[in-house]
Amino acid sequence: MSSAVELWQRYQDWLYYHVDLGIYVDISRIGFTPDFITQIQPKFVKAFADMKALESGAIANPDEHRMVGHYWLRSPELAPTEELRRDITETIDRIEDFTQKVHAGDIHPPTADRFTDILSIGIGGSALGPQFVAQCFAKADVPLKISFLDNSDPDGIDLVLDLLGDRLSTTLVLVISKSGGTPEAANAMKEVEFAFKKAGLDFAKQAIAITGVGSALEKYAIGNNWLDQFPMYDWIGGRTSELSAVGLLPAALQGINIRDMLRGANLMDAATRNEDMRQNPAALLAMAWYFAGNGKGEKDMVVLPYKDRLLLFSRYLQQLVMESLGKEKDLDGNTVYQGIAVYGNKGSTDQHAYVQQLREGVPNFFATFIEVLQDSAKTHPEVEEGVVTGDYLLGFLQGTRSALYDNGRDSITVTIPVVSELTVGALIALYERAVSFYASLVNINAYHQPGVEAGKKAGAKVLALQKKLVDTLRSSTVSLSLQEIAVKIDALDEIESLYHIARHLHANCKILFEGDLSKPMTLKLMLIPQ
Ligand code: PA5
Repeated sequence: MSSAVELWQRYQDWLYYHVDLGIYVDISRIGFTPDFITQIQPKFVKAFADMKALESGAIANPDEHRMVGHYWLRSPELAPTEELRRDITETIDRIEDFTQKVHAGDIHPPTADRFTDILSIGIGGSALGPQFVAQCFAKADVPLKISFLDNSDPDGIDLVLDLLGDRLSTTLVLVISKSGGTPEAANAMKEVEFAFKKAGLDFAKQAIAITGVGSALEKYAIGNNWLDQFPMYDWIGGRTSELSAVGLLPAALQGINIRDMLRGANLMDAATRNEDMRQNPAALLAMAWYFAGNGKGEKDMVVLPYKDRLLLFSRYLQQLVMESLGKEKDLDGNTVYQGIAVYGNKGSTDQHAYVQQLREGVPNFFATFIEVLQDSAKTHPEVEEGVVTGDYLLGFLQGTRSALYDNGRDSITVTIPVVSELTVGALIALYERAVSFYASLVNINAYHQPGVEAGKKAGAKVLALQKKLVDTLRSSTVSLSLQEIAVKIDALDEIESLYHIARHLHANCKILFEGDLSKPMTLKLMLIPQ
């Protein structure tokens, strides 16, 4: 264990500070040694070269044969063709123009002179960024209040629609899906379209699509004459799309300064192109992650923003890191089972929850503290002589960081001056590039998601089985056992799945079960006529 004086020196030796953004990155409480730095240097030579190639338009996502261009969104001049440069700048201009018209009431719903709400429909990369940013800048007097549908959960949909109530007539619906075919988004869209119809409203006049060129959603939006559409480019992945139309349109509509978000990301991008690892905050993060988990994700990343507004940063990073880095194969086809598990919520709240285990339990993680220097835009009363609530928050953060370190638990601290459009844009860019670097260090493709695609296919298989089960019961005059149904549809090896489907249909009054519910094989099933 180093002395306090040695730690203070290590802190100063490794502290990164971005002058224009006021952002600090401190990796001094990760226990790497000078030998480790020497060993990892050659890997960073490759990582910097990979990033250069990626930013100049190489096919950095070989499985999907795609360029990876999210860095161009905030530096369009770097995009490899004039057409792409024009596309990026025109889209941002169009977002601002559309927003200005919505705010001014020049674009309005058929039955009112202003939109009051946004309903954003999308999942994963098409939801988490907008949700995170909305929470960062939430306030009482937003020009349009945002709600989200990000699941195929009927009860969740009911709740959001109930809360909107009569304001559905003044709600602008954003349907966000790059592929335009993701079932959760498609289902939620159909539910909302149905709710509009039921309320006698014209959905098309209040609907906007943000989707890939040529997607089913684009065709649907054009075919039904929707209010407008914005592009989701082929070379942007869902989880890196916050600074494309996916994140910028909802942000601008909520009155968030999107030019500042882009500028923050642009400044961070410039800093993270520095090929001196010690002067590059994203390289420092990737290096620290690599050391902490031995380049194999052996330790989880616990993200603890000490700021309520940044609560969703933990979830946002969970997707960015785990969907990007969690891969079975490396780029050479070797089985590697890579990834870093990420979870978190916020401080100091979680000091009264799982931080107990962090301090004393299994040492299978490293923490990332996110510190915000400005307490609040308002002045606050003293809760004790000379002490405000923000002082306590800092005390809790510092105390936990020290307690973890003293008990052999490593941590990183990222400090921002204030939660602003500039710093939020910069944080997004910082972590996007740290993920890119780490992917190079461990030689994986961070830009595809075969596991997510596999999940989508598995879901479709269950629905196909449900259809067969229902058809079989429909054509039968007597009740049937699971075994009989499985034999009829040649799905004996899917019998457990058939049971789960039947149980769900039973709970929703579509199938009648006869027999003992605790003994699935004794059950007889019958369809309830609807
Ligand atoms: O990051 C990703 O690629 C995914 O999380 C996608 O964003 C998610 O699956 C939604 O896909 P889509 O935008 O095509 O509906």
